[in-house]
Amino acid sequence: MKPVRPETIAAQALHAIDDPTGAVVPPIHLSTTYARDASYALRGRTYTRDENPTPVLAERVLAALEGGAAALTFASGMAAATAAIRAALKPGDHVISPRVAYFALRSWLDRFCKRWGVHHDVVDTTDPAAVKRAMRPTTRLVWLETPANPTWEITDIAAIAEIAHAGGALVAVDSTCGTPVHTRPIALGADLVMHAATKYLAGHSDVLAGALVTARIDATWEQIALLRHDEGPVLAPFEAYLLMRGMRTLYARVERSSRTAQHLASELAGRGVTVRYPGLPTHPQHAVAVRQMQHGFGGMLSIQVGGGAARAVEVVKRLQVWVPATSLGGVESLVEHRYTVEGPDTPTPPDLLRLSVGLEHEADLLDDLVAALS
Ligand SMILES: Cc1ncc(COP(=O)(O)O)c(C=O)c1O
Repeated sequence: MKPVRPETIAAQALHAIDDPTGAVVPPIHLSTTYARDASYALRGRTYTRDENPTPVLAERVLAALEGGAAALTFASGMAAATAAIRAALKPGDHVISPRVAYFALRSWLDRFCKRWGVHHDVVDTTDPAAVKRAMRPTTRLVWLETPANPTWEITDIAAIAEIAHAGGALVAVDSTCGTPVHTRPIALGADLVMHAATKYLAGHSDVLAGALVTARIDATWEQIALLRHDEGPVLAPFEAYLLMRGMRTLYARVERSSRTAQHLASELAGRGVTVRYPGLPTHPQHAVAVRQMQHGFGGMLSIQVGGGAARAVEVVKRLQVWVPATSLGGVESLVEHRYTVEGPDTPTPPDLLRLSVGLEHEADLLDDLVAALS
């Protein structure tokens, strides 16, 4: 088939037509095992853990969307991230991770490094000079997240990849909020891309899923595949089906959320709150975002309402359209006071509200926020 654009790959799931039946929607393969033929030879598959066609299709589609050599799905975003980090590091190695990143991964990485004798520096990765200073001869992995949850700082993936590769380290990017629609880390030099597919890729707040995509098949990728094979944190067929179904509308959903987020960010900026959104010219890394992101700047933004945690929670309580819940990337707009979840040790400002913009009418979302802030 002649090469087609990512939107077409996603919408048609790589033109997947079920061979035996002609079904346009690939079936959910529930069988855990595969029969041998009359001569006792394998017909190509043995057992579900690595080979179930339903997750394998989602993996092929995601690898194509990210421009990677291969992808693997996992039972959650955390399962994917922790497999990648464990595969890339051994005791005595050094890892660099960002100051702003998904909270649960930050705390896991801290515990993992202490327990397994891995040296760890938390660095402001938006500053390539700081990453360069932090590099050591033993640095094997630079973990990035961009846009970074929940303040949406942007890291220049190409600049960091150059620094990391010069020092012999791999670069892995948590691109959950970038999605392949906005950011394609492999084209910018990253070695691994990670997704909490629970969020935008699946897109409907009804699947827990994770994924990794690799730029090439190398020893680290083989180690990741081995970890998944041995430990078994695979994506079950029904979840993989829902993920694939979600990815078919990825471009339409993400572009719409992103347009609405840009509108809300611009409208709210003049209304006495501090808006954190990479699409605003006032954002500290706006120039990097313009260079690195396509089709908009994402469906996530945060506002700082002033007046501390109590005022932020008060604003949430007054909202009637936005749903007060954790998570992000679904069709319904969610608001969360991250400080309540992360506790007093977090770098997240107490007056910050994280907004995940869904597919509702932009005026309903804006009116609700304006009323709650007044
Ligand atoms: C940026 C980011 N990375 C990773 C994760 C973890 O994903 P999961 O909840 O699927 O384990 C999340 C979840 O909120 C996230 O927002």
